[in-house]
Amino acid sequence: MAEPILSVRGLETFFHPDEGVVRAVDGASFDLHPGRTLGIVGESGCGKSVTARSILRIVERPGRVEGGEVLLRRADGSVVDIVKLDAKGKDIRDIRGGEIGYVFQEPMSSLSAYHTIGNQLVEAIRLHRDLSKDAARARAIELLSMVGIPRPQQRVDSYSFELSGGLRQRVMIALALAAEPRILIADEPTTALDVTTQAQILELIRRIQRERNLAVILITHDMGVIAEMADTVAVMYLGKVVETGPVDTIFHAPKHPYTQALLRSIPSVLAKPLSRLATISGSIPHPYARPPGCPFHPRCEHFIKGTCDTAAPPVTTLATDHETRCFLYDVVAGARA
Ligand SMILES: Nc1ncnc2c1ncn2[C@@H]1O[C@H](COP(=O)(O)OP(=O)(O)O)[C@@H](O)[C@H]1O
Ligand code: SF4
Ligand SMILES: [Mg+2]
Repeated sequence: MAEPILSVRGLETFFHPDEGVVRAVDGASFDLHPGRTLGIVGESGCGKSVTARSILRIVERPGRVEGGEVLLRRADGSVVDIVKLDAKGKDIRDIRGGEIGYVFQEPMSSLSAYHTIGNQLVEAIRLHRDLSKDAARARAIELLSMVGIPRPQQRVDSYSFELSGGLRQRVMIALALAAEPRILIADEPTTALDVTTQAQILELIRRIQRERNLAVILITHDMGVIAEMADTVAVMYLGKVVETGPVDTIFHAPKHPYTQALLRSIPSVLAKPLSRLATISGSIPHPYARPPGCPFHPRCEHFIKGTCDTAAPPVTTLATDHETRCFLYDVVAGARA
């Protein structure tokens, strides 16, 4: 496989509110390859969005990227560590939007209500490309057409509140791709949408990815979306990547108890439809009350006292492209069989 276009290594992003420390991203590592989709999955609060914001260096106060590396392979083959860049400097501003486009969950909060979508597109295009206003407007119409907006010549002059949720999300994707980035980060891009619109947006992302050989990081809490979209998967729990692997391995030979629990929580992959484990027992601990040892231990059916609650399990490599963080991964696999 080609060299990764983005390598995240031991990323640590912590928040320091008055009440304590929130280890939102706690040593996360994963690779993204050109033209492929990496799915990041986990329940709400597991650190997926903060991971995305860390890559873009837009973590808000009182949060800070405090450790690790985010290695971006640029178009000219050079590698830059995004963590080392000044969060307000020119380099990261060029990368943000220019090399890494991003779409967040809330199209309403990300689109301005006071500017037409055309003006927002023109601004995004001209931020990274040396085009005249007219050329940028023509390009904006092209982008709207590319993302499947009907009558783009007219729609270019409308405001975001005049559009449906699905159309707004299409505009967000057009904005993210305005400067032709090689990477797209989509954070829960379909969560706010109805099922039909969700399917259409996912299909749009897939089509654009194929046409432009985009590398995509797709963030979701939904294993169904992962099954449809991802080539490789990183499963996150409490800021840690607890399992990574190709999508087939994650679905058919998951090793981490949390991955297995996530899979049991979607109906389509339930082996026994009436299994009592259809939901994951317990809930995510409070951010300030992080369990010692393996963070999943209070909810884990394979928990072993004295081991899982005393030390953090190391990463175990099960195959060249399959890793997990669990002391008992082989025992768990046996129990599951
Ligand atoms: N601005 C903030 N201040 C304090 N804690 C935060 C802030 N933003 C996120 N967090 C915490 O970081 C953790 C990860 O959040 P997030 O990345 O948004 O999770 P996810 O996207 O997986 O639902 C959560 O515990 C959340 O409470
Ligand atoms: S390390 Fe222990 S508690 Fe954590 S997932 Fe593995 S078996 Fe469960
Ligand atoms: Mg999130």
